[in-house]
Amino acid sequence: MRFGILAHPAGHSLSPAIFGKFFKTSGVDATYEIFDIEPSGLSEFIMKVKSDGGIKGLSVSSPYKEEIMKFLDEISPDARMIGAVNTVSCEGGKLRGFNTDYVGAVVALKEKIADLKGKKVVVLGAGGASRAIVYGLLKEGAEVCLLNRTVGKAKMVADHFGISYGDLGEIMKHECDILIQTTSVLIDIPVGFFKKGMVVMDIVYKPLITPLLTKAGKAGCEIITGDRMLLHQAEGQFEIWFGRKVPIGM
Ligand code: ATR
Repeated sequence: MRFGILAHPAGHSLSPAIFGKFFKTSGVDATYEIFDIEPSGLSEFIMKVKSDGGIKGLSVSSPYKEEIMKFLDEISPDARMIGAVNTVSCEGGKLRGFNTDYVGAVVALKEKIADLKGKKVVVLGAGGASRAIVYGLLKEGAEVCLLNRTVGKAKMVADHFGISYGDLGEIMKHECDILIQTTSVLIDIPVGFFKKGMVVMDIVYKPLITPLLTKAGKAGCEIITGDRMLLHQAEGQFEIWFGRKVPIGM
């Protein structure tokens, strides 16, 4: 069985190492490759996956999480609501799309906070990762406010989910129990925002300790590094492809 990550560029991906471990620990006979496909070759690649039959699943990363959707035969309600697919299963020439990013984020948060219900969360960024995380937080009953550099984009996402929004530059007007940085850049915010006991998660995992997390840690916040969400979204993908959980203790 062949699996792999579809992305561009994809050279820096940690997914082959994660799945290599998963496959070994769970005793499945499978390989995990990097499919670094140029945008101009996406359509041809997907047709090959459909007709070939050897590739059983894809992890989908930037910049294809939205574009992949038009090639799929089925899309899960979660992925449709989020508007992005990070997981594809291929069976009998049929491609099905799912989203495990939101599960990954929620599981990573729950390693620090057992119950997210009623928690005030500020989410930074309004891209695909942000939409998945907002979806997961709302499912858990959290109260979410979205802040973005481009306020119009924050409004679009906020209106879709029925949450509040604002300008990233005015972050000091907001308060929260949990802060989640969902953009792919190293966002910096004023140190005065951090309060002791606040939980701060950054989805960037290179570097693992981002400048935001360093500041938060110094201010007495609990920090969650980006590798936690990456690991847990991969566990969700394994479950979709193999119909069982990754062995505990990875
Ligand atoms: P993804 O799908 O990976 O989440 P994306 O859709 O490209 O990423 O979205 C990128 C997010 O990062 C956006 O919220 C973007 O803000 P804008 O909507 O204002 O562009 C945010 N972003 C990117 N570069 C940024 C920067 N230098 N400062 C602040 N936000 C930034």
